[in-house]
Amino acid sequence: MQSQQQKVIFSGAQPTGSMTLGNYIGAFQNWKQLEKDYQCYYSIVDLHSLTVKQDPETFRHTCLSFLAQYLASGLDTEKNVIFFQSHVREHTELAWLLNCYTYMGELSRMTQFKDKSEKHQENINAGLFAYPVLMAADILLYRSHLVPVGEDQRQHLELSRDIALRFNNIFGETFVVPDIHVGKQGARVMSLQEPNKKMSKSDENQNSVIYMLDEDDVIIKKLKKAVTDSYNEILDRPEQPGVQNLLSIYSALSGESRETVVASFEGKGYGALKMEVAEIIVENVKPFREKYRQYMENIHYLEKVYQSGANRARMAASITMEDVRKKIGLVSV
Ligand code: TYM
Repeated sequence: MQSQQQKVIFSGAQPTGSMTLGNYIGAFQNWKQLEKDYQCYYSIVDLHSLTVKQDPETFRHTCLSFLAQYLASGLDTEKNVIFFQSHVREHTELAWLLNCYTYMGELSRMTQFKDKSEKHQENINAGLFAYPVLMAADILLYRSHLVPVGEDQRQHLELSRDIALRFNNIFGETFVVPDIHVGKQGARVMSLQEPNKKMSKSDENQNSVIYMLDEDDVIIKKLKKAVTDSYNEILDRPEQPGVQNLLSIYSALSGESRETVVASFEGKGYGALKMEVAEIIVENVKPFREKYRQYMENIHYLEKVYQSGANRARMAASITMEDVRKKIGLVSV
């Protein structure tokens, strides 16, 4: 049961074919840990994904498959509100209103916008530009106190805070100004091939990305190919970004501190490091894959989860929206 005092969390991920190890470590592991102490709204942010062209049939399947992956990561469906963003119309309504309190200059400084518009030069749409405002709406709608994300979302979170403060200054206390939560380990899981770049599903070199639906042998193969260096010593230092990345992954998945992990690899070679990291990834991915398959065989259950999630989310969202409409000066119906 939700207690009156319980603080609120909102977080979301874009539905893609398969969750990456970066998503899992940077976000989902922390979501699972935080669910005990917070009322959590975990959304599949399907509207955000429309900033890139999607084939309707494939997209519908991808969204359901992603819900199955949310559940496979072990989130409690009773305690948490798990839902599709597009099922709660208030997200787009609030996003429009907040657009009117966000400056073009702020949005053009967003590094993700700059990166993505460079990558998708044929489709630099207004949605891509206003993307962080929809994100702010997601968060502020539930009066969230905390937003657990990977490091790459920090700039968006700062903008959400600025928008909340600005709105509150004009209209009086309306939104909670949210804090960011990034994990101690794995807040930025790096590419296995170019360890100075974030691990990302859109990477052209697919050996750089581990997917939570990869088969064991594929994971082992990708780890064997992981780029390290020629120092031949397992040390935790910036000159060895490939090794550091493997140590972070191990630490995040084992729950052991970085110091303990580094000490346990003392005197071992890179081959052993890669194999042990591969093993611990497989240990996590295997049950994930199995649970995923079970959920995908039970679409009826998935429907129940997202319908109940939408109902619960709508209740909270409509209360905030009513307040916002009134404060802005819209005539009530
Ligand atoms: P998305 O879908 O790109 O990623 C989902 C979550 O995974 C984290 N993540 C990573 N963490 C560590 N290392 C990596 N290599 C890595 N790659 C991804 C992301 O930081 C994120 O936490 N804009 C968001 C989705 C969103 C959202 C929100 C998040 C929409 N509205 C409101 C929080 C609150 C995004 O595209 O995440």
